[in-house]
Amino acid sequence: MKNITVIGVGYVGLVTGTCFADLGNRVVALDINETRIENLKQGIMPIYEPGLKEIVERNVKAERLRFTTDYAEALRDAEFVFICVGTPEGVDGEADLRYVRMAAESIAKVMDHEMIIVNKSTVPVGTGDWVADIIREHQPRPVPFAVVSCPEFLREGSAVRDFFNPDRTVLGSTDKEAANRVAQLHLPLRAPIMITDLRTAEMIKYASNAFLATRISFINEIANICEALGADVKEVAQGMGYDKRIGHHFLESGVGYGGSCFPKDVKALAYMAQVHGTNPELLHAVMGINQMQRKQIIIKLQDLLGDLNGKTIAILGLAFKENTDDIRVSPALEIAEMLHALGATVRGYDPAAMDHVARAYPFVQLAADPYELAQACDAIVVATPWNEFKGLDMARIGGVMRQKVMVDGRNLYDAERLKALGFVYRGVGRGYNGALESHNG
Ligand code: NAD
Ligand code: UGA
Repeated sequence: MKNITVIGVGYVGLVTGTCFADLGNRVVALDINETRIENLKQGIMPIYEPGLKEIVERNVKAERLRFTTDYAEALRDAEFVFICVGTPEGVDGEADLRYVRMAAESIAKVMDHEMIIVNKSTVPVGTGDWVADIIREHQPRPVPFAVVSCPEFLREGSAVRDFFNPDRTVLGSTDKEAANRVAQLHLPLRAPIMITDLRTAEMIKYASNAFLATRISFINEIANICEALGADVKEVAQGMGYDKRIGHHFLESGVGYGGSCFPKDVKALAYMAQVHGTNPELLHAVMGINQMQRKQIIIKLQDLLGDLNGKTIAILGLAFKENTDDIRVSPALEIAEMLHALGATVRGYDPAAMDHVARAYPFVQLAADPYELAQACDAIVVATPWNEFKGLDMARIGGVMRQKVMVDGRNLYDAERLKALGFVYRGVGRGYNGALESHNG
């Protein structure tokens, strides 16, 4: 059993801390957000993440997990301190490191015994060395410490499963002994552990996210070509995926990638590359294609409905992906903003994210369920592929719409079935556009 402190109790910190506690460690989780910590003490989760609440409750009860806002208390017995604070997009696309700096300074000020600082936040290459400098500068008296980079690869919506079943653990440090001690913590997860230098570990994280984003933009480009040529991208992706060198994952075309990570991380990598004199052409193309995917939805709606001014458009799914309440860089809401700017009335429904939407996007008229959402609207846009949407009674939905038009931005539905119900249906890259129809006479 080890004493672990996590700094920042968001998606990464709460999941990491809770799951390490579940592995038998003693964990203190700290955040500067007092409401968040107060709520957690009362069992109220700050995020929606399947399975997390039960594990938090179990470990709090077993006294392996507790929450605080007090750095001195949190670090009193700490052997390992995981930095899990946000690294949002800065003004020029760079990673904004202000929270990392604040965390490093706060740790340094109360550091009175040796500890290993493990950085889990996604940070630009070189940040590990910078954190070590900040800590040295702010320590009241010199206390030895090591910095280890341990990038996080979990996905929202499956974060607990991802923690317990990682594909690999990457550890970067100039201090091999410290890296080995962090490796010991991860042994119960039985995944390959790769130990490298700090900068390489930091780069592995950006390269991994950028590669996954590239796959998505690649398949979206193929989808657009499929539309022009009358092929079906879902089957194209399936056929490609059987090649073991390609694989089936991350080949779903749609409205482009969103979320708090891919958009900012691809941008931050391109920024780093440019600042250091290289020209990241591919990354720019990946970002350009991604933005265009959102606009494609608007173009399809205009094609089907004409001027969108005064039309009512229903958006099914508002979170950036299914199984989360996270609306950061949600493609659904970017589409909502474009529709709003064009004078359309925008309605929305989401199983988990509506509270956040109500606060941040007051122009979106929220519905209690998908059937209310569809009432008298001119089109439905499927923007987030929640599993429960698959089982909706589409005849009932079509029955209450003003016009039976669906733009399925996630290729969730069977086109033929919807057409049989009288819908005009447009998916993404599925050959149901003019090209295919005119080819077939
Ligand atoms: P988040 O916004 O959900 O949580 C960050 C938390 O840090 C907040 O609760 C905030 O109050 C707290 N915080 C900020 N400054 C602090 C300070 N000085 N001291 C203590 N707490 C502080 O962020 P997140 O989504 O968990 O992401 C954290 C990092 O992990 C980012 O770098 C992100 O890129 C990376 N990451 C995120 C995911 C993901 O799925 N969300 C996955 C892998 C990596
Ligand atoms: C992503 C990575 O998958 C994680 O490995 C990483 O740890 C995390 O970013 C991070 O660094 O924060 P996440 O953003 O939670 O995780 O979600 P993903 O499942 O990767 O989806 C990202 C976006 O791409 C979503 O908008 C999703 O709908 C979209 N997507 C995903 C597609 O459009 N097509 C696909 O085939 C897959």
